[in-house]
Amino acid sequence: MPETVEIFEMAPRDGLQNEKRLIPTAEKIALVDMLSAAGFRRIEVASFVSPKWVPQMADSAEVLGGIARRPGVRYTALTPNMKGYEAARAARADEVAIFASASEGFSQANLNCSISESLARFEPIMEAARADNLQVRGYVSMVTDCPFDGPTPPGKVAEVAAKLREMGCYEVSLGDTVGRATPESITAMLRAVCDAVPADALAGHYHDTGGRALENIEASLAQGIRVFDAAVGGLGGCPYAPGAAGNVATEAVAARLAALGYETGLDAERLAAAGAFARKIREGADG
Ligand code: HMG
Ligand code: MG
Repeated sequence: MPETVEIFEMAPRDGLQNEKRLIPTAEKIALVDMLSAAGFRRIEVASFVSPKWVPQMADSAEVLGGIARRPGVRYTALTPNMKGYEAARAARADEVAIFASASEGFSQANLNCSISESLARFEPIMEAARADNLQVRGYVSMVTDCPFDGPTPPGKVAEVAAKLREMGCYEVSLGDTVGRATPESITAMLRAVCDAVPADALAGHYHDTGGRALENIEASLAQGIRVFDAAVGGLGGCPYAPGAAGNVATEAVAARLAALGYETGLDAERLAAAGAFARKIREGADG
């Protein structure tokens, strides 16, 4: 029996959030519906952040309202504060995600507050989600390098990841937001984090700016990580992380995992079709 590795699909959120052209809601919905048919169990489709900060995500409620929800697929949304949480609930997100940084510079740039202030803001979200019986995922950004603060100490990533886990996140996704990590820096970071959080409660979220995301995934597999975030078509980036280019492409991750003997449960043809559609959206072609 081949071992299973899950890919958490990011294209509708992390993939599209940085696009300059305001993409019509119908195109976003069509992309999610194609992804739903490709075999994912989790798809991040929305982000209830300030529309002034990320205009592309302003129609998140309409996207969640318009998709054809497939049984067995969880449709997730980012929520930076209670305003975002309440909007995500109203739009019937299946789970939400809080997002922190391991570097102070990026925390200020992305959330306009310090790391500890961001964690304090997340507390009421955790409390409300517990009452609503909704699962919460956590992100830590800049896990090896930060364009504002330089190299990130692995101990700092472990500290923030452990805090998110203690607060109740069922999984913590570790973001190489700007794609500067190497297999060596990823391994050092994961060794520190795995002392604080079990590997089966962690995920790798590696942007491919430096072209090393697949190598970093292999290094993470060796440390016991079995969930990876990726975006079809290699779309994406974070508007508040200078130089952040695409997420690692789901098609490439699925192919590499298959070559390594892992099962992802994804349909390669449907994945390729969704990837082609995602690239068309990015190029601004009409669907
Ligand atoms: P702020 O300006 O400090 O917030 O921003 P504020 O509370 O003072 O509010 C300012 C305005 O925003 C107010 O409106 C609020 O109502 C509104 P005004 O009175 O001026 O008209 N507002 C909201 N509107 C809608 N939904 C909300 C919301 N909250 C406030 N939830 C804030 C603080 C957190 C809002 C802002 O910094 C923000 O939205 N940041 C999000 C940035 C972002 O989305 N970045 C990309 C996602 S993270 C990422 O991509 C990394 C990841 O992929 C992992 C990795 O790669 O490492 C996850
Ligand atoms: Mg990201």
